[in-house]
Amino acid sequence: MIDKIKELIAEAEAFTAQSIEEVEAFRIQYLGKKGLLNTYFAEFKNVANDQKKEFGQAINQLKNTAQDKVNALKSELESTEEASLNGDLSRPGDPISIGARHPISLVKNQIIDIFSNIGFNVSEGPEIEDDWHNFTALNLPEYHPARDMQDTFFIQTDPDILLRTHTSSVQVRYMENNTPPIRTISPGRVYRNEAISSRSHCFFHQVEGLYIDKDVSFADLKQTLQYFTTEMFGKSKIRLRPSYFPFTEPSAEIDVYWGLESETDYKITKGTGWLEIGGCGMVDPNVLTNCNIDPEVYSGFAFGVGIDRIAMLLHQISDIRLLSENDVRFLKQFKSAL
Ligand code: DAH
Repeated sequence: MIDKIKELIAEAEAFTAQSIEEVEAFRIQYLGKKGLLNTYFAEFKNVANDQKKEFGQAINQLKNTAQDKVNALKSELESTEEASLNGDLSRPGDPISIGARHPISLVKNQIIDIFSNIGFNVSEGPEIEDDWHNFTALNLPEYHPARDMQDTFFIQTDPDILLRTHTSSVQVRYMENNTPPIRTISPGRVYRNEAISSRSHCFFHQVEGLYIDKDVSFADLKQTLQYFTTEMFGKSKIRLRPSYFPFTEPSAEIDVYWGLESETDYKITKGTGWLEIGGCGMVDPNVLTNCNIDPEVYSGFAFGVGIDRIAMLLHQISDIRLLSENDVRFLKQFKSAL
């Protein structure tokens, strides 16, 4: 019997467990009411006197070994369980850094949303353009003095190829490939050979708008722009200042009444309260003819709005160069924006 107990001691010593439940089963098997220990204790009275001492010591050793084992395994398992729980709750998660949308994209998407609500689709054209789409078709033939309004980057080896100076080139492409009614906006990047400063850059972004149908009037243009400025800025007071663009007749500059409530208002409106956001007009019949649309049947309006300016205004960006330098400290600030 003593040998059997010694075997049990060795087994108890070697015992390992993966869970608290396994430890508990072990405890019941050894130390429980009907467990091995109690069974052997009950045998004690039947053991011969000269063996009682050795037997008693063996049982005590078994008891201590089993008890120590239970205590050790319990605390070991409880502490790993606690660590894994606490780890999840208190440790910082994996440092996954989420990107942020660029302020230009934010404003562009907002403009797309506003115009898609009134039935405009989105169209695009190439940034490397030919003379026809950027100038000639837009009523700007060769040697037209108005070409100088936009300092152009030409591709040196081919004077017919250039970096588009405005998104108006997309108007031409769209009209060439679609028939009226047309309602489209064309956002994109444009290039001009200008000195870089905090206010101007050699590339920036515009959104072109084009609406061609029967009986389109200047009143439709004004209403559309008013809807846009109300949705975009919450300002419904606009002013269309007579201007000149070769591709529209009549033409106007679009001013929004921004107000003069704060110091910033004074700064951005140069003390006038009015803010210029782009140009517009009724599409010149020559342009329609160049794009195979009959000006006797159809009329339309067009407009071009600068995105960078609006982004700077809405997000309080003081230097246009920040928009293209890709400094993450700047870009990260737009995480919470839509
Ligand atoms: N393309 C002009 C520019 O870049 C802006 C513009 C003016 C676009 C009048 C238009 C328009 O569509 O009708 O300065």
